[in-house]
Amino acid sequence: MKIMVVGGGGREHAIIKKIKQSPKVDTIYALPGNGGIAKDAVCVNIGAKDIDGIVKFATENKIDYAIVAPDDPLVLGAVDAFNEAGIACFGPRANAAIIEGSKIFSKNLMKKYGIPTAAYEVFTEMNAAIEYLKDAPIPTVIKADGLALGKGVVIAMTREEAVDAVRSMMEDKVFGASGSKIVIEEFLTGPEVSVLSFTDGNVVVPMVSSMDHKRALDNDCGLNTGGMGTIAPNPYYTEDIAKLCMEKIFLPTINAMNAEGRTFKGCLYFGLMLTPCGPKVIEYNCRFGDPETQVVLPLLDGDLLEIMMACTNGTLADTSVKFLDKSACCVIMASEGYPGKYQSGYEITVDSDIEAEVYVAGAKLENGAILSAGGRVLGVTATGESLADAIDKAYANVPKVKFANAYYRHDIGARALKALN
Ligand code: AMP
Ligand code: GLY
Repeated sequence: MKIMVVGGGGREHAIIKKIKQSPKVDTIYALPGNGGIAKDAVCVNIGAKDIDGIVKFATENKIDYAIVAPDDPLVLGAVDAFNEAGIACFGPRANAAIIEGSKIFSKNLMKKYGIPTAAYEVFTEMNAAIEYLKDAPIPTVIKADGLALGKGVVIAMTREEAVDAVRSMMEDKVFGASGSKIVIEEFLTGPEVSVLSFTDGNVVVPMVSSMDHKRALDNDCGLNTGGMGTIAPNPYYTEDIAKLCMEKIFLPTINAMNAEGRTFKGCLYFGLMLTPCGPKVIEYNCRFGDPETQVVLPLLDGDLLEIMMACTNGTLADTSVKFLDKSACCVIMASEGYPGKYQSGYEITVDSDIEAEVYVAGAKLENGAILSAGGRVLGVTATGESLADAIDKAYANVPKVKFANAYYRHDIGARALKALN
């Protein structure tokens, strides 16, 4: 089969490496891919948001199956466009991708169907939001309604910070139209768990749980990033909690989307917080997480392409989805300075005796060399019999990947290990 993957980050590299193992696959195209993905797929320089461009390429090249990985094209209707062109495709249609595309939609959905989440108010007018903040409980959480590259969330520790956040979103429009409507919600506490799931709209099959590390620096200091590393499984996510989540969150969400006439097919990501009052939804994503995918897929014991096609065809109940009884750790190597200003354009080399997967997120090919080209440059993933093994192995292999100005956290998985002991 001819497969096309839309996107060009570490997540897409992990998806591509996994589907490459499928006997069904002949050729994989990545749009746009990146300099590292180019080793594993044919990269085509068409941006992920250029829906017309990607569908035209798919039609002209007789693509058998398309996988849309990033949020933007999903929310923009890439899957609808593929369907109209008669091309089978993995991912939700735009009317279901709204579960990530609009925080107001997802909060109202959870309220209507009794799915546990933080209490909240919606504001479309700045002065009303500022008035509300006068007696709101502090800390409080301010969220832009639309997609904002994961940056549209402010945890305000003081009333002044909360008002500043509202002004920057609604008046200064730092997130553009995404912030013209906002949600102000209750501040929750507890360990966070990411659960990615496969769904065909009938059944929902959770993947192995994982834990992201969002802050830039060790000990969860520094700015929020797109994610500096992940581990799987997440030790806080016990079997009892998993059962509870299936009953109170996963199935109700799938059923709610069906009841709204917005059947969700693809990967539904549940961002959960295990609060003292039980698990609650922090956010939904309409796609695989990044860098969660870089630890979840290496533990998948099966044919990813077959599972994806079962999500599209509605046959997921008859498809085996199994995970290895092992652990994985992914350490993101970034350009020093990220998520602020950074230098890139440095050659990346990988020692030939590396015993880990390297998933490339930000790199370009120039005269045969792979150069760093982004904040998050790549992820080094190792698997092991235990979480401690996986972490040790990942960190033993990080020095085998070299580029100038590389920066990484030294404590990925440390909190999880503590929870285990
Ligand atoms: P989000 O982009 O919605 O995942 O939010 C980014 C991060 O902000 C989450 O991973 C949480 O750490 C934090 N966060 C979001 N909502 C809340 C909340 N209601 N209470 C506490 N922390 C939150
Ligand atoms: N790692 C969080 C996300 O993909 O949104």
